[in-house]
Amino acid sequence: MRRFILSAIGLCASVSLGTSVDTYIATEGPIAKAGMLANIGPDGSKSSGAYPGVVIASPSTTDPDYLYTWVRDSSLVFKALIDQYTSGEDTTLRSLIDEFVTAESNIQQVTNPSGTVSTGGLGEPKFMINETAFTGAWGRPQRDGPALRSTAIITYANWLLANNNASYVTETLWPIIKLDLDYVMNNWNQSTFDLWEEIDSSSFFTTAVQHRALREGSALATAIGQTSVVSGYDTQAANVLCFLQSYWNPTSSYITANTGGGRSGIDANTVLASIHTFDVDAGCDAVTFQPCSDVALSNLKVYADSFRSIYSINNGLTGDEAVATGRYPEDVYQGGNPWYLTTFAVAEQLYDALTGWANQGSIAVTETSLAFFQQFNSTIVTGTYPSSSTTYTSLVTAIKAFADGFIVTDATYTPSNGGLAEQFSKTNGTPVSAVDLTWSYASAVTVFARRAGQNPASWGAANLIVPSVCEPYSGPTVAVTFNVNATTVYGENIYLTGSVSALTDWSTTTALLMSSADYPIWSITVDLPADTGIQYKYIRIYNGDVTWESDPNNSITTPSGGSEILNDTWR
Ligand code: NOJ
Ligand code: NOJ
Repeated sequence: MRRFILSAIGLCASVSLGTSVDTYIATEGPIAKAGMLANIGPDGSKSSGAYPGVVIASPSTTDPDYLYTWVRDSSLVFKALIDQYTSGEDTTLRSLIDEFVTAESNIQQVTNPSGTVSTGGLGEPKFMINETAFTGAWGRPQRDGPALRSTAIITYANWLLANNNASYVTETLWPIIKLDLDYVMNNWNQSTFDLWEEIDSSSFFTTAVQHRALREGSALATAIGQTSVVSGYDTQAANVLCFLQSYWNPTSSYITANTGGGRSGIDANTVLASIHTFDVDAGCDAVTFQPCSDVALSNLKVYADSFRSIYSINNGLTGDEAVATGRYPEDVYQGGNPWYLTTFAVAEQLYDALTGWANQGSIAVTETSLAFFQQFNSTIVTGTYPSSSTTYTSLVTAIKAFADGFIVTDATYTPSNGGLAEQFSKTNGTPVSAVDLTWSYASAVTVFARRAGQNPASWGAANLIVPSVCEPYSGPTVAVTFNVNATTVYGENIYLTGSVSALTDWSTTTALLMSSADYPIWSITVDLPADTGIQYKYIRIYNGDVTWESDPNNSITTPSGGSEILNDTWR
């Protein structure tokens, strides 16, 4: 038995793992719940100034300044609270949930650097805590936000429907949900910054939560008679599911988190995707990367192992012993340390997996998951082990202990007041970066619930079929000709860049080179999405140096058909 320090309760002892985890949870569970509530306005004790229902990421105002509200963090936090309310565990949360819904519907309408509500603004990742726009430079857009927000609100809507409040769902919640789902339907195959706000490409977590949102959105729409959206959501959900498969890396046996970024692609992104798309009715389905699927288990091993040698607090821990894990092995942000929420996420995937095996009454070991299971039984072979077998029993016991070990890891590095920061030092385990991270507390609440067998409502992941051909979504397009009068020096060229993928999403390195055949008029014709608000600028590149046109951005709304010619002058 490994020695550990259970500092939250001032205990330093070598005691049975199960008991010590129970003890930690008994203390930390209420602290984590209170920690979430303290960070929600207007009455949270650490969120002064936040509007009603607004979740601050953390009360930290310097290094890092997290006194903002992120759509991702807020939606994950409220999903946990909505699950508590709808399961009957905490019946006091209703007015807070209603305030969250109002806050998010206000935020949806705020014009921001990603656009207006109808021109891409829903992809904006973070706002001021008084619901105004954050206008500084940032990794935007982040397209997981609308998906996570609609999933949280749909969970509430489904409960209201089952409790005789269909009119509130149809009149108040549906318009909010629909804005987000239409955005997901129309933009899922556009590039996005990942959940860590660093890489602009396609991202597994984002794709997985978009898929989930469209599925449950379609089901809700059907239930309340909003049938006009159903076929669009269903068609795109199938295409998203198709694309989701492409992240699996069969040669290295893990899920590559991002299509860009130039890293290994080993990333907590994938583990978080699995737990946040866990469906208790979907068994060990590999198509949706359920926690007990062979692909998700293989991925989990590669992910956790990638931190064994890079954090010195993990030194000496081998084989089936849990370790502290972080966002991704190459991370340097705030020192590149382990995170509480990612270490809890490993435990959560394992508890979800244990639930999945219990429900199906067996464990299947495939070629893909063999290495995962060999951690617990070095001589195991592929096959299906029924719950009546001794192999099943010993695997379940060992995997439960492994999962508990990840809780113990976070427990070991939880300070005595139970506060959960964002990270803890990779060399000595002391808390690092933002204090009282709301998402850290939510991750404790959800992992403790899963360990206790409390599972969220199903979202329809069972028995989905991957279409044989993936179709990228493309709505109608129109040909737009951009002409700009710009005098240049020899060797200097004019390029076009802008807010949609056809205009390279504001890239300067892949911006579109214009033709100078009619110099000084530079020209290019591009197929752009019809009936869409788009921003763009011309840039000059000379010897690799980029010069932007002066602000503001140029804007157009494309026509719904035909074509358009724009005659601009360089500013
Ligand atoms: C701030 C982001 O919140 C964080 O995720 C990122 O790692 C750093 N910027 C560095 O890019
Ligand atoms: C940085 C994290 O990378 C990002 O995921 C999170 O949304 C913000 N911090 C706020 O907590």
